[in-house]
Amino acid sequence: MSAPIALTGAAEVLRLPEEDLERLPQSRAEELRLEPGDLVMHGGRIAGFAADGSCRRIDASGCAVVPGFVDCHTHLPFGGWRADEYARKVAGVPYAEIARSGGGIRSSARALAALSDGEILAQARALAAEMLHHGTTTFEGKSGYGLSVAGELRALELAGRLLDEVPQTGTVTALLAHAVPEGHDTASWMDEVEGMLDAVRARTRADALDIFVESVAFSNDDLLRMGRLAAAHGLALRAHVEQLSSHGSVPVAVTAGARSVDHLSCLPPEDIGVLVGAECAAVLLPGAEFLGGERTPPARELAGSGAVCVLATDLNPGTSPIVSMPLIAGLAVRRYGWSIKETLLAMTLNAAWVLGLSGERGALCVGRRADVLLLDGPVAHIPYRFGHNPVAAVFIAGEPVWVREDHAWRFEGPAA
Ligand code: NIG
Ligand code: FE
Repeated sequence: MSAPIALTGAAEVLRLPEEDLERLPQSRAEELRLEPGDLVMHGGRIAGFAADGSCRRIDASGCAVVPGFVDCHTHLPFGGWRADEYARKVAGVPYAEIARSGGGIRSSARALAALSDGEILAQARALAAEMLHHGTTTFEGKSGYGLSVAGELRALELAGRLLDEVPQTGTVTALLAHAVPEGHDTASWMDEVEGMLDAVRARTRADALDIFVESVAFSNDDLLRMGRLAAAHGLALRAHVEQLSSHGSVPVAVTAGARSVDHLSCLPPEDIGVLVGAECAAVLLPGAEFLGGERTPPARELAGSGAVCVLATDLNPGTSPIVSMPLIAGLAVRRYGWSIKETLLAMTLNAAWVLGLSGERGALCVGRRADVLLLDGPVAHIPYRFGHNPVAAVFIAGEPVWVREDHAWRFEGPAA
């Protein structure tokens, strides 16, 4: 095994208040510690917080050391982009109207079907590389642009292949109810979903199901059915809810056993309490809110309530063509009035919890996987220098996988 690597003399190292936490409501975020010091990585794991003579030393002076960002909601892999649609949206055409006129999800489904596996993976690999440079060390990808049994299975297989081909690790979610495919109504398509789950289990690495509840998509009854299917097949449940209008879907999702409810722009304040103490996180997607001109969720109230809150990019060609978690952090701080500690918790530990991975990542704790970022300044600069990429170096399982050129000198010290 190679020598331990130590990031030494950092201005800030982000630590949990207790070592073995797997999630923490934002109401306790101020208990996170930001202290000067070292971080030691060895054998792919975090080994301690004090460098000794056996370590290869990397000068971290002036830097913050934080866990790698976990992007728990992306729509990778997808094919092509929809910039034309964004221009229409900015000019005032509502998303629902774009969707009804054959745009939106259906247009990305046509694009996916027209591209070869190699072309889709090439685009997704390039996006994963951009994500890495912005500090994302773990991500989730979804199907949802297949819109047929064969198309969804293909998308899930491609999501798995993507994770095999990039430095990051992550999970795959079967978003099998995204838009109602041609020739179906919601009920007949849900029958198809039920029929494909054995194949999803056997042929793909999907570990969760997902559904879009909206007037242009699926209903709360479909959400309940998806919950039963998830439980029957040993899969987690995620749900896109309360994005464009309110359908009272959060209590329904919690009843259905959802691990997360995602979007929540139109969450009525009276439904916040349902998430307090629930085994279900609120995943907020401020990039989609901002670019889609959506309402702002009651995020300040959610964070204060005791709910577990999470941030993600929602990277997709329609509502959020955004790869950068630092940009998402900047939006969250400004739009939600969140502190930087609330924000960092939402993009590390709590995001890993949504993916069922927080026992081994999402926090700088001894024994956890050493997915670690070196930032080029204090964490307060992440939201403040909005649009700047603060990531100076990225470590995955203790190995440096990306070093920004102006910080290469830190890695040029003598070997141990
Ligand atoms: O998370 N809301 C539904 N699904 C995606 C958008 C998909 C698309 O427009 O292509 C979302 O915002
Ligand atoms: Fe989404």
